[in-house]
Amino acid sequence: MKIDIITVLPELLESPLSHSIMKRAQEKGLLEVKVHLLRKWAVNQYGQVDDYQYGGGAGMVMMCEPLANAIEELQQEGAYDAIIYMTPDGKTFNQRTANMLSLKERLLIICGHYKGIDQRIRDKYVTMEISIGDFVLSGGELAAAVVIDAIGRLLPGVLNDETSALTDSFQDNLLAPPVYTRPADFMGMKIPEILLSGDPKKIEDWRYDQSVERTRQRRPDLFDEQ
Ligand code: ADE
Repeated sequence: MKIDIITVLPELLESPLSHSIMKRAQEKGLLEVKVHLLRKWAVNQYGQVDDYQYGGGAGMVMMCEPLANAIEELQQEGAYDAIIYMTPDGKTFNQRTANMLSLKERLLIICGHYKGIDQRIRDKYVTMEISIGDFVLSGGELAAAVVIDAIGRLLPGVLNDETSALTDSFQDNLLAPPVYTRPADFMGMKIPEILLSGDPKKIEDWRYDQSVERTRQRRPDLFDEQ
């Protein structure tokens, strides 16, 4: 999978994308992430990429021309399966969307700043608008890193068996069951006996029941989702 990102603050993306599982995905050649500095397509020598809002009001808006030129140029390397704009008024990201996006070949992610991007860029180029939750970040970069992490770890070959994504929370619209490691007795708190039974079927059933119970208690809304 290839992901291009357009941003005015590439530094915010560097660390999350260059460690741990994201690093491994890229080293294995399963994920290629390229960060593009929007200022490369600035309208003048001052590197301008934003301007005042029509109609007045506080906050700058990211201009049409730099974004349009960036998108058009990047598209020349091949069509995108989705052009995503990170924005708090987008559709809330979840595991289902991560699964769907992990099946795509080429994605372009636009990170907004200030008041966001000119609506005409959204109308003309953007095919998907994603929010990572009902709160406002200073820009789309951290949100993009979240989305890329969630997608990247689903790519076949990125996780090994031990970290398999199949047992994650949300993968069946269920939260993950509790997990334990050594010691079996910690300050008098013992692990559930069944985990020492050596019976894989019983353990699997127990984990499933725990998942259902945890979901019922904490996120009953997940049972309503398709
Ligand atoms: N940009 C600012 N806030 C955001 C959010 N909650 N999700 C996605 N992009 C954003």
